[in-house]
This record gives sequence, structure tokens and C-alpha cells, in this order.
Amino acid sequence: MARKMIKYSLMIPGPTPIPTRVLSAMNHDMIGHRGPLFSAVMKEVMELLRWAYDTKNEIFIYPSSGTGGMEVAVVNTLSPGDKVIVLNIGNFGSRFVKICKAYGVDVNDVKFERGKPADPAVLEAELKKGPVKAVLFQQNETSTGVLNDVETLAKTVRKNQLDALVIVDAVSGMMAAPLKTDEWDLDVVVSGSQKAFMVPPGVSAVSISARAWKAHASSKCPKHYWDWALMKEEAPKGHTYTTPPESLIFGMREGLRMLKEEGKENVFARHKFNRDLCRTAAKALGLKLLADDAHASPAVTAISPPAGIDGEEVRKLMREDFNVEVAPGQGELKSKIFRIGHLGYVDSLDIIGAFAALEVLFKRLGAKTDFGAGVKAAMEML
Ligand SMILES: Cc1ncc(COP(=O)(O)O)c(C=O)c1O
Repeated sequence: MARKMIKYSLMIPGPTPIPTRVLSAMNHDMIGHRGPLFSAVMKEVMELLRWAYDTKNEIFIYPSSGTGGMEVAVVNTLSPGDKVIVLNIGNFGSRFVKICKAYGVDVNDVKFERGKPADPAVLEAELKKGPVKAVLFQQNETSTGVLNDVETLAKTVRKNQLDALVIVDAVSGMMAAPLKTDEWDLDVVVSGSQKAFMVPPGVSAVSISARAWKAHASSKCPKHYWDWALMKEEAPKGHTYTTPPESLIFGMREGLRMLKEEGKENVFARHKFNRDLCRTAAKALGLKLLADDAHASPAVTAISPPAGIDGEEVRKLMREDFNVEVAPGQGELKSKIFRIGHLGYVDSLDIIGAFAALEVLFKRLGAKTDFGAGVKAAMEML
């Protein structure tokens, strides 16, 4: 048994580790949230979020996790009985289905094989069956490590039904992969603080297009806390309807400032490189990856353990023996895979460290993996 590691290593797809700069920025006195001090902070956060989203649209932030942001999108644009399509490529697609159903929205749950992206041809065929109010899907499906082609899916909607809303859950994809809200004509885009923004969980953000505002005017889903109308009154002042989570907003400002300093293209290149590093190491060990190379997520990689080893066992031993936290398989993938997060404040050496631990673990468990091959392949990429 190796000696116990004293340093905890967080390798899950959110929450991600938090840079000291962000933690320090959050260590801030509370300020009046209806005064000019807070307005200045909020206005900077809004400007930075618009930069991240690539949009001129209005963005509202809510004190909620990502799921709250998904619900914001649904209740503000839809009415009970509305027909919508959910492109369901994993657990978070299923979550969109559940939220819609909870509000009586008539959902066409278009499911794809786990590990595969949404197929635009299938979407087109569904759109040809009749008008829908909205199409909802994930930019990045965190449960399977698959990146959807948002641009093509959005174009497919526009080509077939000009007025249908395109609602994108970009909670784990925002700033890990390119997303152009205005250029791709996306109506509502949801993000969360705890992913590539490198901030603790607790803030969601939604962007709202003119088409989405129009839908809001006739939307009949019950709402109060989430109602855009209440936020709209406060937003021009740099305020929010409810008391804002100030510490997290100081964190958002710092996390976003760091990303802007690094530069968007560099941030995307970093995520892509770390994805490839992770996949190279896994492949060198002969491990099966759930997503193929063309649709692999830059945020998280879903990996099958060596034959005869359970994914949950890998996760438990990684934590107990090495103090490395990897993520489990979710839903029907439980035990079949484990997931390594490489978004946010995670770097190449963290991934190599995780593979070093995995390789020792596999050896102890008697797996027939080539000891050291994963780490070596990854090191050669540096
Ligand atoms: C793609 C995606 N959507 C939604 C969520 C839900 O976010 P939360 O757990 O913050 O409610 C997550 C969380 O991991 C996610 O990855």
C-alpha cells in the first residue's frame, strides 16, 4: 500500500478547483446590493459574461446551480401544452425532459445512443413532423463526455422552423469549447459558475434573445423567483431582483477576468490539449473511451475501466488510496465508466498525476495494462 497522499486532487467535471486569485477575490466585505458599489461590480461581470457568451443579448444571473438556470429557460419561454423537442444525449438531456414535464410541456424526448452526439439529420426529420415551440439540448453532455455541434443543430432548427426557440444548456461547455450566441442565433444559453469559470457552485447565468423575450411575453408557466420581468426592472441599475450571492459574484468577476487575460483562443486550446492528453493516456493503456475522437468533450472524458474492474471501485480506490477524486458513471452508465474532468482550473500535470495513480491502481488490481504506458504517452505530448 502506497503512503497516503496528503493533497486532495479534484478531477471531476465541476465543481472544479478554484484558483487562489478567485478565492482571494471572494474574501471581500459585503456591500450594499442596491447601491453604486455593487452596481459597478455587476456591470463588469455582465460585460465579461457577454464576452464569454459572444453576445449583445441581455444576461441575467441567478443564485442557483445550473439546474436552476435550465428551469429559468423553460419557465420563462414556454407554456403548459407547448410542443418541444429535447435532443437527449445523456443525463442532462433527461433533466431537460424532466423539467419540461414538471411544467406540463409536451416533450418529444429524442434519445440518442449514450456516447454519441445529437444527429442533425434526426433533428431535421423531427422538425418536419410539425411545428414546435423550442428545441432544447446540451452544448456539452457531462455524463458521457460528448460535445454537440451546436452551430449545425441551431442552423437545422432555423432552416426548418424559423421561429422555434433554440435553448442551449452550456453549463459544462461554456468557455471549454467555442460558443457564439449571436452568430449562431441561440435564444437562451445557460451557464454555471462551477465549471470553466473556475468559481464555486451557486450562480447560473442565462442569455436572452429578442425571440426569447417575445416568447416570455406569452409564456404561461408559473413563475415568480425566476421571472425575467422582475430581473428586467433591476438589471439596468446593475442590481438583481433578490439579494445577490455577493461573494460568488466577486468570484465570477475574478474568474472571468482571468479567462479574458488568458485569451479565449488560448482557453479553448488549453481545454482541447488537456482532452487530447487524457485520451492519449487512456488509449495507451488500451482503455475504451465512450466518445469517439470527433465528438470528444474538452471538459470531461468518460473511460471504461480495464476488463473485470468496476468503475465505482476505481473511483473509491482513487479516493481512498491516492486522494484523487474522479467522477462516477451516471444513470445507466453507473459502474461501467468513470470520468476524468479536465475543465476549469485543471492542467496537464494534474491529468498526468491522475493517470499515474490509475496505473498503480490497475497494477494492484491485476489488470493487464502496460504499466507506465499512459503516463509516458501523455508526457511525450508535453
Ligand atoms: C451540462 C450540465 N447541465 C446542467 C448541470 C446541472 O448543474 P447543477 O448540478 O449545478 O445544477 C450540469 C452539472 O454538472 C451539467 O454538467
